[in-house]
Amino acid sequence: MSGVDEVTAATAATSLADAADETAAEQVVTPWDVSGGADGKIDYLKLVNDFGCQVIDQSLIERIETVTGCKAHPFLRRGMFFAHRELDQIVSAYEKGEKFYLYTGRGPSSESLHLGHLIPFHFTKWLQEAFKVPLVIQLTDDEKFLWKDLSLDDARRLARENAKDIVACGFDPRRTFIFSDVNYMCTPFYVNTLKIAKCVTFNQARGIFGFAGESNIGQIGFPPTQAAPAFPDCFPHLFGTDKKSLRCLIPCAIDQDPYFRMTRDAAPRIGGHKPALVESRFFPALKGESGKMSASDPTSAIYVTDTPKQIKDKVNKYAFSGGRETLEEHRELGGNLDVDIPWKWLNFFLDDDDELRAIGDAFASGAMSSGEIKAKLIACLSPMIATHQENRAKVTEATVDQFFSTAPRDFDAMFGALSGDAPAPPTEGEAVSFQGGEHLVARGAPERAAAAAADAAGAGAAAADAPLSKNALKKIQKEKEIAEKKAKKAAEKAAAKAAAQ
Ligand code: TYM
Repeated sequence: MSGVDEVTAATAATSLADAADETAAEQVVTPWDVSGGADGKIDYLKLVNDFGCQVIDQSLIERIETVTGCKAHPFLRRGMFFAHRELDQIVSAYEKGEKFYLYTGRGPSSESLHLGHLIPFHFTKWLQEAFKVPLVIQLTDDEKFLWKDLSLDDARRLARENAKDIVACGFDPRRTFIFSDVNYMCTPFYVNTLKIAKCVTFNQARGIFGFAGESNIGQIGFPPTQAAPAFPDCFPHLFGTDKKSLRCLIPCAIDQDPYFRMTRDAAPRIGGHKPALVESRFFPALKGESGKMSASDPTSAIYVTDTPKQIKDKVNKYAFSGGRETLEEHRELGGNLDVDIPWKWLNFFLDDDDELRAIGDAFASGAMSSGEIKAKLIACLSPMIATHQENRAKVTEATVDQFFSTAPRDFDAMFGALSGDAPAPPTEGEAVSFQGGEHLVARGAPERAAAAAADAAGAGAAAADAPLSKNALKKIQKEKEIAEKKAKKAAEKAAAKAAAQ
């Protein structure tokens, strides 16, 4: 969308669609909550309409194949990545020889990733290799501290742990930079954050993200921090200091769209390119297709840390089946591919198109039983997860340092073909450059342990992590009730006025 206020357009689209379709209006998709409509499913076309993005069509996929010389990734061929914003323009610019960079991220809220989290990272790796471009990966430890019952120390620790799983997906350190917000909030990043923040009113933020009176003000102020990395001058050690030096393409699931709708609106006002997006549907939960998997419900997800036995047991016990009540009935009527989770998961992770088609045909006709399609899924997932675990075991703290390093890079060397192997991670004692945070400690300053003890003694520091007191909760509830009463009265007044006219 160009020259149009995307936030307003999306809001208008929402109200039009709301008026047209009362049932589907119940679905909720925000960066923090995903739940389906009345039938429990996500209506992706409605989402595309509401958000104001576009569906990826076959001709765009073919253009990507032509310009990269690579067969499209199964996620693209099979419509898992199904929506975009100006992906066509990135492709056109690339065709003309223009460079771009990729930006994606993870909110480190749990020890390990589940399979749904792997989707954008596997796809991003493919994009990076196909287009031969640099990539930045943001770990929003600040976001998870603000939203979850998580101490800041834990969020920062999880950021490093999650980084190991991300590295295990196979990114090349020569053109990949991973950062945690708390570590990397350097001046250029903060400058962009501030400029974006100034473009967005509270009313707009409330409209986009659903903030309410009880949202803490850290949450309300957070979105520009996720927006800023879409501008290359946040990373002077990679891309220099020109805000328009590069375009940016963001792969993510569609739940992250609100952040970037806001970013695209702010972009021309702060002198940057609007970032482009390529967005996926959700990898469904094990127990059925009603939104995102939950990292906190082990029966809804398979984690990258699960053992072969756990994978087998979870699939057999919890995977929602499209099979019939009895084998006899199944053979006669066939399975229902529309709801079968093993089938849906195979669509994400089974590479071989012919094998996939044969499995679908056999299950739909009733020749393949529900136990057999589950066995196919187990056979597909187990080696994939084992490989991930082997790769993860090789990722050391030094490897994480290598990806987090802010040592200046050679700009041109990050684009095009790379020759030879990636350099080894730094060895102990070798200088690693970091920018910001605890790495710039003045010589002679008090030791960190002493400072931490002083922090712990101060009530102020602890209070930010502590749950709210009963009184504070009561007060919030009261404020909410007053606001609701006020809104109700105002609506009644407006209705009475309209009726009188
Ligand atoms: P987070 O940690 O919730 O999710 C990380 C990435 O995984 C995607 N995702 C899924 N994709 C498919 N199926 C699922 N079931 C599923 N669950 C999660 C998310 O869309 C995301 O791409 N705030 C972000 C972190 C972030 C980010 C970014 C994400 C910071 N900058 C730029 C994408 C692009 C978050 O908490 O993601």
